[in-house]
Amino acid sequence: MGERQRKVHGIMICVPYQGHLSPFVDLALKLASNGIVITFVHLEFLHRKLCDTHYANKTDVDLFSKARELGLDIRCTTMTDPFPLDFDRDANFNEYWEAMARDFPPLVDEFVGNILASDRDMLHFLVADTVYSWPAAVTRKYNLVNVSLWTQSALVYCLGYHWDLLQQNGHFPCKDVADEEIKYVPGVESINTKDLIAYLKQSQCESVISRASRLQFEQAKMADFVLHNTVEELEPQALSALNQYMPNYAVGPLNFSQNLPTNTVTTSFWSKSDCTTWLGSKPPGSVLYVSFGSFVHTNKQVLEELAYGLLLSQVNFVWVIRQGILGDGATSELPAGFREAVKERGLVVGWCDQVEALSNPAVGGFLTHSGWNSTLESMWCGVPMICYPIGFDQPCNSKLVVADWKIGIRLCEDGSLDRENVAHEIQSFMGGGDLERLRQNVGRVSQIMKNAVETDGSSKTNFDRFLKDLKAKIRNQL
Ligand SMILES: *[C@@H]1O[C@H](CO)[C@@H](O)[C@H](O)[C@H]1NC(C)=O
Ligand SMILES: *[C@@H]1O[C@H](CO)[C@@H](O)[C@H](O)[C@H]1NC(C)=O
Ligand SMILES: *[C@@H]1O[C@H](CO)[C@@H](O)[C@H](O)[C@H]1NC(C)=O
Repeated sequence: MGERQRKVHGIMICVPYQGHLSPFVDLALKLASNGIVITFVHLEFLHRKLCDTHYANKTDVDLFSKARELGLDIRCTTMTDPFPLDFDRDANFNEYWEAMARDFPPLVDEFVGNILASDRDMLHFLVADTVYSWPAAVTRKYNLVNVSLWTQSALVYCLGYHWDLLQQNGHFPCKDVADEEIKYVPGVESINTKDLIAYLKQSQCESVISRASRLQFEQAKMADFVLHNTVEELEPQALSALNQYMPNYAVGPLNFSQNLPTNTVTTSFWSKSDCTTWLGSKPPGSVLYVSFGSFVHTNKQVLEELAYGLLLSQVNFVWVIRQGILGDGATSELPAGFREAVKERGLVVGWCDQVEALSNPAVGGFLTHSGWNSTLESMWCGVPMICYPIGFDQPCNSKLVVADWKIGIRLCEDGSLDRENVAHEIQSFMGGGDLERLRQNVGRVSQIMKNAVETDGSSKTNFDRFLKDLKAKIRNQL
């Protein structure tokens, strides 16, 4: 077969988290709609979970079959990770990632090796989530062009990239209570130590995730291509600083690419309650949407203070409390009488379609844990935020929201979360004069994002450039 005719084939391996899966699927559809063959790899347990939730436990469902009927060549397959299917990976996060670091690389090596051996006609490349630290070894062994998909903000990438610099300046490990401005990281004009990534802090510097992240950033420095789920106009300095070191492409927001059959692929971990009817009965802008996302854990006390805060605030709200939010198998019981007391103005659900809820005119604000995916969704929908970051990259995201883009405020900034403050802050946020300014700003940000994915928009142009560079690199590698 002539080299020119050989098809290009991407093997895509995601991490099993909601906020990572959607951008991955979106990228798969995008690549496939540009004539690239894709093998999308789900971890077996996650595939089962999606099938349990959406296909009544049928396990042989092909999650991309509808996309394939539309002409996209995406093959879906699964591989095992080092744990039995019913092991609770979220509740045992540290144990899970300990084992993933140690025992997953040989599994993935064998898996990729088998795929390559079974098809020698195509030209292969690998797309892996940046948070994995095994890709460098695998791609070197098989001489594969590698693409790293970073599903978080470019700000966080800059900080991770310059880990050594932080260390030299005494900010890794960073004192937990420090209050200093960091002004020496290229691409980051200024960030307070309070807003650093949680795993750079002293109390977490020995954690599995801190060690894994450090390794991951070391490796990612050598990736052939890094795709960022952000928008050039929103993080120009961070991205242009990174461009000095490596090929970066801001192609976000990936969950919102136009003209892709995104809704043909099941990505939601849980089944969704419909909030539309309830929201339809509330006045425009009157509802606070409250969710801590799909992954982080919180504790009983926080839930309780929030519950009383919402109760005292008198505002309308939708509160998403997913199963497992307390992390230790505890069921999240709300205070006695809570549901009854708020039944006219509050809706509590286990999960819902977040974009659908945020786009509803009744929703006027989003109380969020500041996960990147939720942040992007709120921005896209033009909804101002109250930020209550819990861990990981979330403090950085809320810094972007509050200080850089001025599209949100922080909850209980100077102290602990207590019900009186929560009530007061929610009330003044939803009713206050500040909201108009935040709304205008977030409206502008939303427009920037929408422009970015249009023809000639920055994310669209960057994606096209990536595709061209990728193909050239693959053919040169022969
Ligand atoms: C699917 O299987 C799980 C565990 O085996 C079980 O708890 C659940 O009820 C099943 N769901 C359906 C819809 O059959
Ligand atoms: C990607 O491939 C290059 C060779 O082109 C290699 O040097 C590098 O280590 C690989 N990096 C990752 C993250 O896979
Ligand atoms: C983003 O995260 C939220 C909360 O975790 C979830 O409801 C939503 O489905 C996610 N969106 C996408 C496109 O993954």
